[in-house]
Amino acid sequence: MVGDDPTRKMDQDARIQSSTTAERVLVLDFGSQFAQLIARRVREQHVYCEIVRHSITAERVRELAPLGLIFSGGPASVYAEGAPQCDPELFELGIPILGICYGMQLACHVLGGKVESFPSREYGRAEWHIDKADPLFEDVAPVSQAWMSHGDQVANIADDFEQLASTSDCKFAAVKHRTRPLYGLQFHPEVTHTIEGSKLLGNFLRNICGTTGTWQLGDFATETIAQIRQSVGSDRVICGLSGGVDSSVVAALLAEAIGPQLSCILVDNGLLRLDEEKAVIEEFSKHFQTDLHVVKAEEQFLAALAGVTDPQEKRRRIGHTFIDCFAGEAKRISGAKYLAQGTLYPDVIESGASRDGPADTIKLHHNVGGLPEELGFELVEPLRDLFKDEVRRLGLQLGLPEEIVWRHPFPGPGLAVRCLGEVTQERLNTLRAADAIVVGEIKAAGLYRATSQAFAVLLPVQSVGVMGDSRTYDDALAVRCVNTDDFMTADWSHLPYDLLSRISTRVINEVKGVNRVVYDISSKPPATIEWE
Ligand code: XMP
Repeated sequence: MVGDDPTRKMDQDARIQSSTTAERVLVLDFGSQFAQLIARRVREQHVYCEIVRHSITAERVRELAPLGLIFSGGPASVYAEGAPQCDPELFELGIPILGICYGMQLACHVLGGKVESFPSREYGRAEWHIDKADPLFEDVAPVSQAWMSHGDQVANIADDFEQLASTSDCKFAAVKHRTRPLYGLQFHPEVTHTIEGSKLLGNFLRNICGTTGTWQLGDFATETIAQIRQSVGSDRVICGLSGGVDSSVVAALLAEAIGPQLSCILVDNGLLRLDEEKAVIEEFSKHFQTDLHVVKAEEQFLAALAGVTDPQEKRRRIGHTFIDCFAGEAKRISGAKYLAQGTLYPDVIESGASRDGPADTIKLHHNVGGLPEELGFELVEPLRDLFKDEVRRLGLQLGLPEEIVWRHPFPGPGLAVRCLGEVTQERLNTLRAADAIVVGEIKAAGLYRATSQAFAVLLPVQSVGVMGDSRTYDDALAVRCVNTDDFMTADWSHLPYDLLSRISTRVINEVKGVNRVVYDISSKPPATIEWE
């Protein structure tokens, strides 16, 4: 864990600078839970977008030369002690600014308006009306639905501002500065409940910032490949492959960038899904022709897990064994200087939703799969700027098969945390076979992409059954299938009964040792997605 290591922050800033995208917009994060969503919406308009701390200096913004700034919302009140501020010089740069909710209140407040806490707080849907035509409203319906979420609102604007739109409870739903390219929206254009939200953002980007919307993920791949070549030079890079989409895409990018200097390590821990390592080995030894080191460590992992039933202890032992195996193999690869990681954008920037200081709660996370820094490698993290679905698209562009790209997420400790109770070879085989049936049937029903994660869990519970004329006393298997956007909250998938019925029949008939199948109908929270 690197925490708030200042050199890392500098690395991050340097990286932002080296992303050579011509058209860039910055989202200043004031602690909004929606900051990432704003960045997503901007990228959807083919404009490259990054999230930065709200305290970014005007000087730094000048260096980065964005075409626009978006001030996010945030939970604070502009008058509260310690409320996040921005460099007031930002308003003097001539760069268009869109303030959203708190961002708007801050801009209005700094420039002479008045913000108040209103008794009629607005949360949820509200109807808003355009009161004055403006390029921001091109092709936007005069009356439509917006998503509000605020306690404070602008009570009075300075003379330099004009009012553009309202709701019944909010006179200043949209405002603009008379002489500067500065707009404010009290509602949230980034959420889908704001029906004209994308149009508003698109109009801000095109009509106010002058972007042309030419950014493509393909450009990202080309630029990133060039950057990797430049920073890695002639040194060797090690990349851990896990079977998951992120590490596969990192490896594919590196293979493209510095092919012969790449060494991939796949630790076969015996805890992967059916045929998972086979698919990855085939892809990376045949298609990409990388130097692939498969560490056969199944026995080591099983030995470490023998007799362990406590979930935390399982994770701990798996983590240690993984480090031993990985580090041992990495030592054998001579001349390796870099370690490639599949860190994604949401891992990098955690837009501190905490009330007591969003600036400082932006942390760097290390998606190192438990690898300690003492390994002594410099990190290469080519996916740090991307969201998960962008990573998937990039994977397809790089030629990875859909089978790998669209695979549901899989926890680092693998099947061990889905094999409740003791993890043994035999129980893993049972679970693997059942899991393949569950996933196979969901795929056959055309529902794999419609679900976020689907898997089997082998329970440490036996129950009585009857097969033919015989009594059985075998294991119970749970089927877990969830739908979620962010894996922080999830709903159980309402799978069709006939599909559940097929799964149950096949598992009981085909998987020896299982005589009962149950379907998990718990949402998260209070349950988690995994059972351990
Ligand atoms: P939970 O069970 O916390 O899971 O609701 C949320 C998401 O995280 C995955 N998960 C893990 N991923 N290492 C990982 O790489 C882990 O130890 C781990 N535990 C849970 C889980 O599969 C789900 O997608």
